[in-house]
Amino acid sequence: MKAIVYTKYGVPEVLQLKEVAKPTPKDDEVLIKVQAVSVNRSDWEGLRGKPLYARLGGFLRPRQQRLGSDIAGRVEIAGRNIRRFQPGDEVFGDILPRLGGFAEYVCARESALALKPASMTFEQAAAIPQAAVIALQGIRDKGHVQPGQKVLINGAGGGTGTFAVQLAKMYGAEVTGVDNSGKLDFMRSLGADHVIDYTQEDFTRNGKQYDLILDIVAHRSVFAYKRALRPNGSYFLAGGSVAIILQVLLLGPWISMIESKKMRVLAVRPNTADVDFMIERIEAGKVMPVIDKMYPLSEVPEAIGYVGEGHARGKVVISV
Ligand SMILES: NC(=O)c1ccc[n+]([C@@H]2O[C@H](COP(=O)([O-])OP(=O)(O)OC[C@H]3O[C@@H](n4cnc5c(N)ncnc54)[C@H](OP(=O)(O)O)[C@@H]3O)[C@@H](O)[C@H]2O)c1
Repeated sequence: MKAIVYTKYGVPEVLQLKEVAKPTPKDDEVLIKVQAVSVNRSDWEGLRGKPLYARLGGFLRPRQQRLGSDIAGRVEIAGRNIRRFQPGDEVFGDILPRLGGFAEYVCARESALALKPASMTFEQAAAIPQAAVIALQGIRDKGHVQPGQKVLINGAGGGTGTFAVQLAKMYGAEVTGVDNSGKLDFMRSLGADHVIDYTQEDFTRNGKQYDLILDIVAHRSVFAYKRALRPNGSYFLAGGSVAIILQVLLLGPWISMIESKKMRVLAVRPNTADVDFMIERIEAGKVMPVIDKMYPLSEVPEAIGYVGEGHARGKVVISV
């Protein structure tokens, strides 16, 4: 089968389309013929080996030589212990940390997969799992967003942010989206009430405060973020630099003891119940996956570069 492979961290050009052995599923796995796979910032991070947490699987070179986590496809073989799926079923899911979705076939555990609704294309389904579940756990489970609350999403124009803005609006919040100047109208079109161009304005220094900040691209100090929180406000870091993650991990609990502000790292637990929740909202027209661009498998390097360099409005999907 064909797959995108890399043996060293670096620029998109280190990714190569190669002929490799088709994987064989274990008893508790299914073999999926991949139809579509979306690109996440985690693929860009895994390609570059930055931030440092992207090297957890291999410090000097990637141990898992394939990227791609949000897959949608058809079950080709179901392992002996598989109960929920059979050959021919259309499934989708987030297969992080196993990865390997940028390929014609991939194996996955049953627990990572949900049945794809017939109403959705493979491309739409692939655009959902990782980004939507981070957004849902940030906005609903940790943020407990209530009507009328002020919510700021930092990185609102990307994959996760696109879902987070829509979910925060669905729960009745007044939403501020922060991203680059090219994405201001896009964030408004998702429902953001206010938008901030991060290249022009530092939202931690404009005197405004929020009940919830969901940060997808953290790079300011924990004290800057604290300044932008209202009393009893919460800050959750979903992605960003390791230095800021460490600051939030170490200082967040102290800040909560001294002031009525909560600052935590959002450790997302991928699960299919959350994916099902999102599917219901999508089918009800309350939230929509936004696909900016589609590429063929051979153009995964270009697709990952497009996301990593910050051009994508919403999701980028590989149609295999
Ligand atoms: N917490 C967990 O358990 C967990 C699990 C899985 C993944 N993750 C992480 O969650 C993150 C998800 O990212 P994603 O896929 O949504 O990324 P994405 O699609 O690339 O979106 C990020 C957005 O932020 C913008 N941005 C960059 N720098 C910014 C800044 N300084 N201020 C405001 N916006 C900025 C980007 O545009 P420009 O670059 O053009 O500015 C882009 O629009 C990744 O870091 C991933 O590793 C976390």
